[in-house]
Amino acid sequence: ALAVSTVALMAAGATGAMAACDDGEIVIKFSHVTNSDKHPKGIAATLLMNRVNEEMNGKACMEVFPNSTLYNDDQVLEAMLQGDVQLAAPSLSKFEQFTKKFRIFDLPFMFKNIAAVDEFQNSETGQAMKESMVKRGLLGLQFWHNGMKQMSANKPLVLPTDAAGLKFRVQPSEVIKAQMEAIGVSPQPMAFSEVYGALQTGVVDGQENTWSNIYGQKFFEVQDGTTETNHGIIDYMVVTSTDWWDSLPDDVRTQLATILEEVTTSRNAAVGQVDAEARQAILDAGGVIRELNADQRQAWVDAMLPVWKQFEGDVGQDNIDAAQAINA
Ligand code: LMR
Repeated sequence: ALAVSTVALMAAGATGAMAACDDGEIVIKFSHVTNSDKHPKGIAATLLMNRVNEEMNGKACMEVFPNSTLYNDDQVLEAMLQGDVQLAAPSLSKFEQFTKKFRIFDLPFMFKNIAAVDEFQNSETGQAMKESMVKRGLLGLQFWHNGMKQMSANKPLVLPTDAAGLKFRVQPSEVIKAQMEAIGVSPQPMAFSEVYGALQTGVVDGQENTWSNIYGQKFFEVQDGTTETNHGIIDYMVVTSTDWWDSLPDDVRTQLATILEEVTTSRNAAVGQVDAEARQAILDAGGVIRELNADQRQAWVDAMLPVWKQFEGDVGQDNIDAAQAINA
């Protein structure tokens, strides 16, 4: 399907592409929720698609559906179990119904940066997380990175008390809900594709996300400003269904896994740059970014850290200790 897919890709441009698949090719549908060209996940998915369609032409054919055009994250894992989609990369906050092990990644101030997340994921504990949902029919293939989370609202946020009484959109994660409640914010779980409208119409007052998501979804346009809290992380697991993965011919599975691993290594190494570009693009577009001094940031730490206690049982004190040792 090489010629057709290349033409389709060019025609579809930044909106993503659907390669026309030839008869006999294994069709791999990859559904995700971000843009495809200015976002760590979108860029990685596009690269994966291009490489699969070039290098596995005749054997397999990948179609990427970005921007929630096929599924929202709250639907995609069920769709995967039904066989309607083969790959997805939801944030680790979206696996709540399948495992509580990922809750460590949502705990505020648990990881000081994405390098620390990477190191934790490469530990034995981190690698074992890929198989933590096999009994439920899902297999993690790779972790993909995004970046640190920031806070935005329809009023200036300098201290956590500035957020008290506001409504914030959150991903559907118990940890993030507890984190918001710790600062007096009312958490409103909502699909990613609905956040811009909800901010614009005042259904919610604020949200937390990474620079690439705040830029990619234009949240900054409908907020007073974004405060650089770096209080948490967004990271992804590239996931597939065990049924589908096990059904693949060995050579196809091996080649796909190798390409995915190479794409993961190269794109994970580049997330810092994509993140910095998104931050700068917000400034260039006239968005307001507020930096915190050490005392102000400490106030967010003090307000949010008690949340760890609530989830100690789910994530394990040994894992918290391991994450803190990496930060040190
Ligand atoms: C969100 O829902 O805010 C994020 O998980 C979206 C994403 O995939 O980065």
